[in-house]
Amino acid sequence: MIDIHTHILPMVDDGASSIETALKLLVDAYEDGSDEIVLTPHVAQAYGFDNPKDKISALFEDFKYIVKQERIPLELYLGCEYLYTTQENFFMQKEEMMTLNHTDYMLMEFFFDIEAEKILEAVETVTQEGWIPILAHPERYDSIQMNPEMAKLAVEKGALLQMNKGSVMGKYGSLAQDTAMELLESHAYSFVGSDAHHPLRRSSRMYEAYQMVKESFGSNYADLIFKENAKKMLKNEDIRKKDGYEK
Ligand SMILES: [Fe+2]
Repeated sequence: MIDIHTHILPMVDDGASSIETALKLLVDAYEDGSDEIVLTPHVAQAYGFDNPKDKISALFEDFKYIVKQERIPLELYLGCEYLYTTQENFFMQKEEMMTLNHTDYMLMEFFFDIEAEKILEAVETVTQEGWIPILAHPERYDSIQMNPEMAKLAVEKGALLQMNKGSVMGKYGSLAQDTAMELLESHAYSFVGSDAHHPLRRSSRMYEAYQMVKESFGSNYADLIFKENAKKMLKNEDIRKKDGYEK
């Protein structure tokens, strides 16, 4: 499996708070069947996480060296999870942002009470800049829970959707779970991420969610969103309209 959304890079956000915790999250992921992991620290000024790309790139190189010394056989990549607030802020921060593995793909999140129309505006803005927005955990936003069709509309406007593995397992409550099930049913998701923060509270283990998706929605779709799409994305192939989502 490939995990495209994690807060494992240590001591840069509210994820892994030490190198030991970060290594534990990686070992857990490896033992659970993940092969490749994208480290996506928060870039969220509203929460006090600046994390410009020069800073996290340097820390990433140091961390990769430690992981190699520990002989954890995982392929690691760097990205970020950008908290999109306004168009103005986006243009100001764009140069400082780390896309996923230096591709055109940008993982972005919003405040949880964001209106769905604002999500669509953000997709338009980011797409016009030549980037491919990946919306992190759309099933967790109030407006999408009220109307999951808006998430599908975002896909039609050029976005791709990433489900949190915990959503399908009910870890974020029944509304997020129901929304995730509906979006899975229509094959609206292209990716899954653990959104790992902590080995116990929000773990890096993806296999249980993979099994659940496989049992309910088939192994072809499960393989697509837990691995194959991410593999292409990390090589900067444009997977839109070929990712299994059909209107
Ligand atoms: Fe996250």
